[in-house]
Amino acid sequence: MTSRLDGPLKVTGRAEYGADHNFPGLVHGYVVLSTIAHGEIEAMEVTAAKGAPGVLAVYSPFDPLELRTPATAFLGDTWVPLQDKEVAYYGQPIGFVVAETYEQARDAAMLVAVTYRARPALTSLQDGLASAEDAPASRGVPASLEVLAPGVESIEDALAASPVVVDATYSTATQNHAAMEPHSAVAVWGPDGLTIHSGNQGSDIQAAELATALDTKPSEVHAVNPFVGGAFGGKGRTSTPAFLAAAAARVLDRPVKAALSREQVFTATAGRAATVQKISLGAEHDGTLNALRHDSWCSTPADRSFVEPTSHGTSREWYATRNLAISQKMVPLNIPPTTFMRAPGEAPGSFALESAIDELAVALAMDPIELRQRNNSNAPPGNDLQWSSKHLDECFRVGAARFGWADRSPQGRTDGDWLVGMGTATAMFPALRFPATVEVTLLPDDTAVVATSGADPGTGLLTVLSLVGGESLDISPDRVVPRLGDSTLPPGGMSGGSTATASAGSAIMIAAAKAIDDLVKLAAAPGAPFAGEDVSYADGRVFAEGRTMTFGELLRALNRPSISVTGSSAPGEELTKHSFSSFGAQFCEVRVHKWTREIRVSRMLGVFDAGRIINSTAARSQIVGGMIWGVSAALHEGLEIEANGRLANGDFASYLIPVNADIPEVDVHFVEYPDTLHNPVGAKGIGEIGTVGMAAAVANAVHNATGIRVRHIPIQIEDLL
Ligand code: MOS
Repeated sequence: MTSRLDGPLKVTGRAEYGADHNFPGLVHGYVVLSTIAHGEIEAMEVTAAKGAPGVLAVYSPFDPLELRTPATAFLGDTWVPLQDKEVAYYGQPIGFVVAETYEQARDAAMLVAVTYRARPALTSLQDGLASAEDAPASRGVPASLEVLAPGVESIEDALAASPVVVDATYSTATQNHAAMEPHSAVAVWGPDGLTIHSGNQGSDIQAAELATALDTKPSEVHAVNPFVGGAFGGKGRTSTPAFLAAAAARVLDRPVKAALSREQVFTATAGRAATVQKISLGAEHDGTLNALRHDSWCSTPADRSFVEPTSHGTSREWYATRNLAISQKMVPLNIPPTTFMRAPGEAPGSFALESAIDELAVALAMDPIELRQRNNSNAPPGNDLQWSSKHLDECFRVGAARFGWADRSPQGRTDGDWLVGMGTATAMFPALRFPATVEVTLLPDDTAVVATSGADPGTGLLTVLSLVGGESLDISPDRVVPRLGDSTLPPGGMSGGSTATASAGSAIMIAAAKAIDDLVKLAAAPGAPFAGEDVSYADGRVFAEGRTMTFGELLRALNRPSISVTGSSAPGEELTKHSFSSFGAQFCEVRVHKWTREIRVSRMLGVFDAGRIINSTAARSQIVGGMIWGVSAALHEGLEIEANGRLANGDFASYLIPVNADIPEVDVHFVEYPDTLHNPVGAKGIGEIGTVGMAAAVANAVHNATGIRVRHIPIQIEDLL
């Protein structure tokens, strides 16, 4: 158990987030948002705003800051504000007012008068289903995919030939990212270029995006973000405040701070798409899945910049089935952008698939765990590459015992005025990793520095660097100083896709091995303390002929300030040998009040096979957070979009999220099987899987308690009347 190294800094207010930075001469920018959902800006009257106290500049599509559209291989194009007069959603950034103080900028922003030529807006996924388009390929899979057993003509035939069929349509709500730290930036230009302080998921990615946007050299953009107040996919791309602050600071030659208000975060950033998912399952009487069809529709913004891959993220891989058909469609709407959000695809996809599996268990009168185990897959359907390691059965076995699943009745039970039910669901999230480079430096004071540009958005990566660094150098982790969140450090890629430990960790192991190699060579070099001897290394020391020195002593003896090496790792040959995923079993007990229909989650358990766990404390916290988010998705979160495109609940007063009283004790357990077929660290990733399946586990528990099957989330009291 290791406490996170940045914990004391964060809880004492000493951790400086982006907007905490201040500089002499700093001025403040306020973002102006559109008040129609679709159309063109005819005019913006800015005279009053420009004349308001303290105002330095008012930027708009009529007087824009010059910004180019950055594209990164991983994220695609990133939208930049103020470059044209088109409005694609309500709450779109259309202006930027810069003034001496925040209040002056905000007040002046209220004086900007906008005239629009409005066009009809489409803001509801249900209303837009008829205009759905095939989604582009995601996860390497085209819009639709069919795997059929020999002799089977179509998925319809396979379903028709199945004695038991479940056919149901599910839907999930649009969600806001709502990270604790609102999107913000402080931009300062100096002789060497731009320094930007802005929370993100990878400082080298942000620096590259800003360099393109500002048409400057990558070496002239320095992105700094040692602390990030939550990201979850919502800070993968560079934000509007960062683009505008950087561009305005250059023109005005003043440091500029831009921070979105909480309400602005709801539209001026990006959230999770709404989905509609139609699932058909065909099974034998013994539960063997004969056919699985999953057709998904998701909302996408007008620029079609993101697809929530529910079919591709779940049904394509989860169960052994002889016949599989999936399709993914998108519906362009006049809504705020959608983007990656913790378990993109799997989170809403697992609600639909795992609810449908529960419905099948009811139809078969079979225990839902037994049904899942019957259809356990050794490899994704239609794929020859077996899972590198899969202990999902054990997760269910251990979980069932721990949770008291044997006491569950198919009809639930009552406890006074409460109807009590238990639900379960499978969780899966692919084990991935990205290319990463890490620098390991050995110092004469017997400490080491492990440095990479990657970000710790609260996931615990900083502490992981010291733990894996210590292990790889065979020294105590408290002698390892981790550094991250700075684009001048070796490129660590993105903290996203539950990859950071596997990516950075693998690179650390490579760099540490090289550093030890260099150290040993140095020790035995002519003129060195162990010249010509057979030198070995262990425990932070070099050894030869019964003599030993710490690496610090050796560096001091040699008068060397340091040994510094970089190591890089990237996915490779392993991808041709196995399929990779983390797995888990979610359990939930709910109590529904017989008369008021109030829904309380009373117990939660998640058991996970996520490979090696590096820091059990942080890992548990990650998973607890994910499971709570699952409850939040199931019972609380959902944006209501009015017909005019305005969010009816775009603030923390009306966008529901659980509070402590909504969440019981959360039990988390890991079955720990290091997966070194995936990467040398053996970690498969824990960032996202905690939320996967949880919403279905809640909905399945609600069904068990009440007999009512709710096929949408969030589930509300009125659904159970
Ligand atoms: Mo996460 S949605 O991969 O940042």
